[in-house]
Parts: sequence; structure tokens; C-alpha cells
Amino acid sequence: MKEFHVAIDGPAGSGKSTISSLVAKRLNWTHIDTGAMYRAVTLWAINNKINLNNEDEYTFLDKIKISYVNDKIYLEGKNVSKDIRSEEVTKNVSLVSSFPYVRKKMVDLQRKATEGINVVMDGRDIGTVVLPNANLKVFLTANVEERAKRRYEENLLKGVNKDIREVIEEIKIRDKKDSTREESPLKKAEDAIVLDTTYLTIEQVVEKIIILIEKKEIEKDGN
Ligand code: DC
Repeated sequence: MKEFHVAIDGPAGSGKSTISSLVAKRLNWTHIDTGAMYRAVTLWAINNKINLNNEDEYTFLDKIKISYVNDKIYLEGKNVSKDIRSEEVTKNVSLVSSFPYVRKKMVDLQRKATEGINVVMDGRDIGTVVLPNANLKVFLTANVEERAKRRYEENLLKGVNKDIREVIEEIKIRDKKDSTREESPLKKAEDAIVLDTTYLTIEQVVEKIIILIEKKEIEKDGN
């Protein structure tokens, strides 16, 4: 069988990354979290004090190495999986990922990473831009209150007790930024299957996606 590419898109807190990772594990495929890549770029930019608002300063991307292996993100060979989840990175990543120069670099890297392998890739523009020919496209949604509740609980585990109303506001702001930006906004691909995860457990969503993959594989092999 030729390689199989699954594109999973959706807004912040829809469960993309957790679900994609579990689907990939079940199938023994590769998972790539593209949000983690944009976060790594943001982390490097902050640590090296570049002017985040100036697109011209992102030429450092020609020199640095970013890789995603076994659910861990590496920046210049260093595992930065924890550092990319900081408040400062979260606050600035929408800005950094809005620059066409940054997106072009990341999209090239993401496409290369899928060559010849079975992959589950998650992000905002995977089905629309990165892998328009993906074998299966899924668009995950959940209402904003549920997504905020998930973020809130994640925060508690990290020892951060932020007011749920503040989390709701932050998610709304990020949704707006991600879906109204000019370059590759968050948008459902026309041929994507929508899965609303508001009332589903993680396991139920994983199961649904596995079934969709199996169905597509049968169709593919039959052609
Ligand atoms: O999924 P996440 O919250 O880790 O993503 C971080 C940010 O990166 C998000 O605000 C939008 C951006 N992003 C993007 O623009 N395109 C992608 N394919 C993935 C993430």
C-alpha cells in the first residue's frame, strides 16, 4: 500500500493534538503536530530577542533546525516540548504564524516530513494548504466553553489556576486571529469530515477517526 496521509484541523482546544497522537499510536504511524513547530519558531524568536513584528527578521529560519520526532519537538537538537507551552509563547504564536515567510518555511518542512510515510498531521491549514491531497481530512470542533474547560483543566495540571472566564476570552481571541488572518486562515477544507467533539470522549473520537481511515483504505485499495 502507498503512503496514507491524514489531515486533522480545528481551533485551539478542539483536541487535535491529543487525538492525532493517539490515532497515530494505534496504527503505528507518525504523528506531526504543526502547532508545535510554529511554537518552536516563536520560542527561538523570543529567546533571541528578535523584533517579533518584523517579518524580515525571521530569516533565521534558513539556519535553524526544527524537527518533530515521537511527539517531541526539537530546536537545534534540544527537546523544547515543555518550553513551547509557556504563556509567552502562547501569547505570541498567532502573530508569528501570521507571516507568509514563516508559513512558507514551515509548510515546506511539513510537506517534506510526510514524504513516503503514513502520517497523521494536525494544525489549522493541513487539509487546505499543506496536504490538499490527503487521503482523509477531518475538521474537529467543540464549543468554546468546552474547549476553555479543557484548557482550564490542562492548566490546573500544570499548577496554573487561571479564571475560566479569562480562558474563554483568550480562546475567543485566538480563534479570531487564527481564522481571520490573511495567510492560510483556519478554515474547513471542502472535503473534510466535521467531527464535533463537545460531547465525546477522547477515545470515542479516536475510534471514529480509525473507522474513517479504515473505510478510506478499503476505497483506496479498491481503486
Ligand atoms: O495548535 P496550537 O495551539 O499549538 O497552535 C499554535 C498556533 O500556531 C495557533 O495559534 C495557530 C498556529 N498554527 C498555524 O497557524 N498553522 C498550523 N498548521 C498550526 C498552528
